[in-house]
Amino acid sequence: MSCEDPAPGGAAAADTLLTLEDVERAAAAVLPAGVRDFVAGGSGRERTLAANREAFDRVFVRPRVLRDVSRCATGADLLGRPARMPVAVAPVAYQALVHPEGELAAARAAKAAGVPFTVSTLSTVPVEEITALGGRVWFQLYWLREPGRALELARRAEDAGCEALMLTVDVPWMGRRLRDVRNEFALPERVRAVHLDGGGASAAHRRAAGASAVAVHTGQEFSSALTWAHVAELRAQTRLPLLLKGVLAAEDAVRAAEFGVDAVVVSNHGGRQLDGALPSIEALPEIAEAVGGSCQVLLDSGVRSGTDVLKALALGASGVLVGRPPVWGLAAAGEAGVHRVLGLLSAELSDALGLAGCATVADARRLRTVRSGAAAGPAGAAGLSGGRGGPARVEAGGP
Ligand SMILES: Cc1cc2nc3c(=O)[nH]c(=O)nc-3n(C[C@H](O)[C@H](O)[C@H](O)COP(=O)(O)O)c2cc1C
Repeated sequence: MSCEDPAPGGAAAADTLLTLEDVERAAAAVLPAGVRDFVAGGSGRERTLAANREAFDRVFVRPRVLRDVSRCATGADLLGRPARMPVAVAPVAYQALVHPEGELAAARAAKAAGVPFTVSTLSTVPVEEITALGGRVWFQLYWLREPGRALELARRAEDAGCEALMLTVDVPWMGRRLRDVRNEFALPERVRAVHLDGGGASAAHRRAAGASAVAVHTGQEFSSALTWAHVAELRAQTRLPLLLKGVLAAEDAVRAAEFGVDAVVVSNHGGRQLDGALPSIEALPEIAEAVGGSCQVLLDSGVRSGTDVLKALALGASGVLVGRPPVWGLAAAGEAGVHRVLGLLSAELSDALGLAGCATVADARRLRTVRSGAAAGPAGAAGLSGGRGGPARVEAGGP
């Protein structure tokens, strides 16, 4: 066992975990420090990582009453197809780091929970093995330096039966993840990006003094010259629905819709790219208003409960993605752990919907919210005022 392998025999009983924070603690107890840091870490001083949570905690929902919630439904439309709740599993690289079955176990749990699973370009399990499970599978694409490689991967994902392509647009290179630099983090031999390098050993496996080997590797592989022309090229080459992940500006979201993109994912990559980028929940209302239904708006970065999902819906999202929580579940208890994470989100969302007077996800999108307790950030949806030095309470949304 290398120091980067999870401790054996430490699996938690999934049904004793009552919140996603419980799952996080259970994962932390079994993961070696370097892997724990790789998953938990953000870039730079981790201000955006922390701000993602703080921003969710500043949002409060104004519940409605007397609206018969005896039959509360969490069902949602994600990219024109039904999901059991407005949640998808975000792409996360190298899941074999935390569990021997890696993405396969996570995808099985997503299928059982009735939500889409996104396969990373840096998956440790081939996309074909994941689509063979039969659930809803999206493929996340990093644009690679080698000419034609990204489009080849896109075609491979389409042939494998993926139902959507998600182009990540906020990684011209990897943000400076100082935990990984301090740990001189490198992948163990058995953990490989099977869609790259022919699945062989790479720079990501070679411990480098004063550096993250994973960052060195992505620096070699990823293109930093991505532009809208590539989006147009990808749009022209595939019939699949296309998502752009990593959008934080309304102008970019509007442009994406003009380029035929089906959904934007409002995301700061879980605080792992630009440290100082705004929390995605803060960016959401303005983006949702600007696109006005011309494409779907999803959100990730900091979603940790069903109440957070409710807040995202109220602020204009059609759904959310969760990144770290399923990985914690995988580390803590394998497939059952991921299933527990998604089950908790579903139960919490159902509870939150009912207590907010919403029988459906569509009702939640009409709720009003109040943002309080901090100097107001950027102005958001219709009715939201604020700005620097603005009021401590700002109201958004809803009729
Ligand atoms: C360990 C780790 C690996 C990730 N790998 C990828 C990836 O390969 N591709 C990608 O687009 N995003 C990747 N992300 C970002 C997630 O898709 C997502 O945007 C982020 O985790 C959401 O924030 P949350 O973890 O707070 O839910 C990764 C995130 C983590 C924590």
